[in-house]
Amino acid sequence: MRKQIAAANWKMNLSLTEATTLAEQFLQEMTPAKNHQLIVFAVPFPYLTAIQQIVADTPQVFVAAQDCSAHAKGAYTGDTSVAMLQSIGVQYALVGHSERREYQLESNELLAQKVNQCLAAGITPIFCCGEPSNVREEEKQAGYVTHQLKESLFHLSADELQKVVIAYEPIWAIGTGKTATSEQAQDMHAHIREALQIQYGAEVAQSISILYGGSVKAANANEIFSRSDVDGGLVGGASLVATEFAAIAQALR
Ligand code: PGA
Repeated sequence: MRKQIAAANWKMNLSLTEATTLAEQFLQEMTPAKNHQLIVFAVPFPYLTAIQQIVADTPQVFVAAQDCSAHAKGAYTGDTSVAMLQSIGVQYALVGHSERREYQLESNELLAQKVNQCLAAGITPIFCCGEPSNVREEEKQAGYVTHQLKESLFHLSADELQKVVIAYEPIWAIGTGKTATSEQAQDMHAHIREALQIQYGAEVAQSISILYGGSVKAANANEIFSRSDVDGGLVGGASLVATEFAAIAQALR
């Protein structure tokens, strides 16, 4: 069975004390994850080690960086390399979150480099894709997302691609309270899997976890995660409340 993943994206929120308290409360609230399930906390860089220590003894719970540099090392003030993440034992990184695409002008080409960096360091990229509202209104979302996948992932070998997690996050649903319906999520996830199948074959396409992100909360997680091509969620706002995120993790198949 594909990995089913509940990923928290804390974004630029919380003090260190608030962050450690939230992680500790989550561990108390959570039901133990099954072998095919993963819980990942994408936390601000300064808290990676602290949260890692808190979750270290809980099976199937990990931390992720929210970004990484497209470069290996050198004069890139403020950036964090995958080698640095690897050296502190981080195993996951978000790549291409829509907020970085929008505010840091990250292009598909740059994201391809970040994906390469992650894979070279043995870090699993959680690659985010998804369309803005005007593209959805014109019903051009399928082509838009395929283009993102092509430009940032399809240079990879099948072996490499199998180390990537994909998160479909329609931009109009992020932080807006406007969740995609489970049909809309399933339709796009099936489309993504079909694009993977055309490029890499059925076996590879079936093995890739595809998460849905955009206003996932405890109240809608069961419905969204019940869809056959939805393998969990990438959760922003609701991941800042321990009981909410524990309920979301419990909704994993
Ligand atoms: P949201 O954010 O759950 O607050 O909509 C999701 C994300 O940006 O990853």
